[in-house]
Amino acid sequence: MKTRLELEAGDITRLQVDAIVNAANSSLLGGGGVDGAIHRAGGPKILEECRAIRARQGGCETGQAVITTAGDLPSKHVIHTVGPVWRGGDFEEARLLADCYRHSLELAVRHGLKSIAFPCISTGVYGYPPELAAPLAVQTVTEFCRSQTGIERVVFCVFSPKDEQLYRDVLKA
Ligand code: APR
Repeated sequence: MKTRLELEAGDITRLQVDAIVNAANSSLLGGGGVDGAIHRAGGPKILEECRAIRARQGGCETGQAVITTAGDLPSKHVIHTVGPVWRGGDFEEARLLADCYRHSLELAVRHGLKSIAFPCISTGVYGYPPELAAPLAVQTVTEFCRSQTGIERVVFCVFSPKDEQLYRDVLKA
């Protein structure tokens, strides 16, 4: 079964997929950007489960991912991953960003999920250049999905016309 890669422009909190991915921070206690949107729209249950994860394992390290309920969102789960802060490119940022996609996909497979939506992780507050992040995201997802059959649909959710064009160009290449 070949995994379908799709592009959706708009608010990730509205997507009907098994899991949406949150660009979180290591505290897992919420923030601005897509993190803020997910907690606002999903309600307090998401934060409750994030707090329980913190109690068990501390926060979430950069490149790692954890899964919680999606609370009031249309999706079933939220996978929280922590992207790297861009520091010029010589501090393992590319590997860490790829790890975010890989570990999120691994969690989705482990939970038997069929569809997952990603925001443009690290390209907002964390300053990762979108033109570098988009091809890396698509390449990482493509490579992962070649070796598994569980996930049927991966949605790249873009929030700006610039990102939409970047992903359009990468996906059609
Ligand atoms: N739906 C989809 N994408 C969104 C939404 C939304 N509702 N809101 C913002 N985005 C996009 C941004 O436009 C950007 O392209 O998500 C991408 C990631 O940007 P940020 O949310 O700023 O995430 P990131 O750059 O990974 O920084 C993470 O920001 O919000 C805090 O707690 C978070 O400390 C963490 C840091």
